[in-house]
Amino acid sequence: MGFDFVEWLQLGLRWIHIITGIAWIGASFYFIWLDMNLTPPKKDGPKDEAGVGGELWAIHGGGFYEVQKYRVAPPALPDHLHWFKYEAYFTWISGFALLSVLYYFGAEIYLIDRSVADISADTAILIGIGSLVGSWIIYDLLCKSPLIRHQGVFGIVLFLLLTLAAWGLSQVFSGRGAYIHVGAIIGTIMAANVLMIIMPGQRALVAAAERGEAPDPTPGLKAKQRSLHNNYFTLPVLFIMISNHYPGTFGHEYGWLVLAGLALVGILVRHFFNMKNQGKAKQGFVLLPIAFILFFVVAYLAAPNREVASGAPTVQFSEVQHIITERCASCHAANPSNEDFRPAPKGVKFDTADEILREVTRIRQQVVDTDAMPLGNLTEMTQEERDLIGIWIAQGANKN
Ligand code: HEC
Repeated sequence: MGFDFVEWLQLGLRWIHIITGIAWIGASFYFIWLDMNLTPPKKDGPKDEAGVGGELWAIHGGGFYEVQKYRVAPPALPDHLHWFKYEAYFTWISGFALLSVLYYFGAEIYLIDRSVADISADTAILIGIGSLVGSWIIYDLLCKSPLIRHQGVFGIVLFLLLTLAAWGLSQVFSGRGAYIHVGAIIGTIMAANVLMIIMPGQRALVAAAERGEAPDPTPGLKAKQRSLHNNYFTLPVLFIMISNHYPGTFGHEYGWLVLAGLALVGILVRHFFNMKNQGKAKQGFVLLPIAFILFFVVAYLAAPNREVASGAPTVQFSEVQHIITERCASCHAANPSNEDFRPAPKGVKFDTADEILREVTRIRQQVVDTDAMPLGNLTEMTQEERDLIGIWIAQGANKN
């Protein structure tokens, strides 16, 4: 029986990861939206005197909801208080499990690219895990420094540091490996914010309320700060999670810059929505066209240069077929010789001339425009071979 345990394990983990991630990010969107849309109750009215700081009415799913947020804590705690933390924890746990299964157990295939850096699997894994822990420590220190009082500067510094991380990781890992680690760094910071700052802050609030004391508002404010950081992280992290499908991003020579550019698009969009939630849609509206233009500027700048010298001799199909058989068919064949890749990944096979000719566009995307394939350059394809295929495609990809 050809039961592929690892394949199904991955599928299961991915499924869990996306479900918990949606629940977490959905809650993040909802609560930031809620917080920014609260309006204070009537001054000196009964709600104001009961300590309510803001309220909101909503209709959803056929019913009316009235939400109130207390300035610090209600006079008495309810029997049931809902917490939101397992979404975060399970998103991180399933994400880390997936990272381990794919990129750590499969380090030789997915994480390492010997044409980028010739490192061992152990070294690569150590760098990967170290980057997660190290980034959290740096971020947390930054949050505890005076810089946190200047929101705008703090945001810029954090963005530059993460871009630096993306650059650094792209010097040691494959494009995919670098991208997924930036995503994992952000995800780790987000989950650690919940575990180390937001939850303890909330526990302190509850404990003080239970003792009937006036709680210290500082932990609550710190929790809110981290919650807002998490909110800005969401769109960039979601882009990273889908980037795997787009070799033009992670496979680009300056993939880390592409990542920074698109992350900025996400942050601008997020910022617009946060301004809109505060009733500043008009002032913030300009952010949307800026984000839109930036998206296409990145796309334009990242576009591959496909110029081929006009005098180049005609490349024969037989040469191309020879290269593809040698560099690709160990994985991409009806019966791949590489045992890790059965059946052929994504159903892409290069056994016959027709199969190659059918896939010209994708071959160009994966091999000429980017170095996304061969995976981890395991089959040691050379730049000359890529150029040759590029010229053949530019000359019309004929079966001459
Ligand atoms: C070591 C195994 C291996 C080798 C060698 C390899 N590939 Fe792949 N290829 C894969 C895997 C795994 C995937 C699926 C990647 C993913 O999940 O994103 C893939 C996916 C693809 C895809 C589909 C991409 C998509 O998402 O639409 C194309 C096209 C492709 N490879 C072309 C090539 C070409 C051309 C070569 C040779 C230059 C090559 N591959 C060499 C393993 C390999």
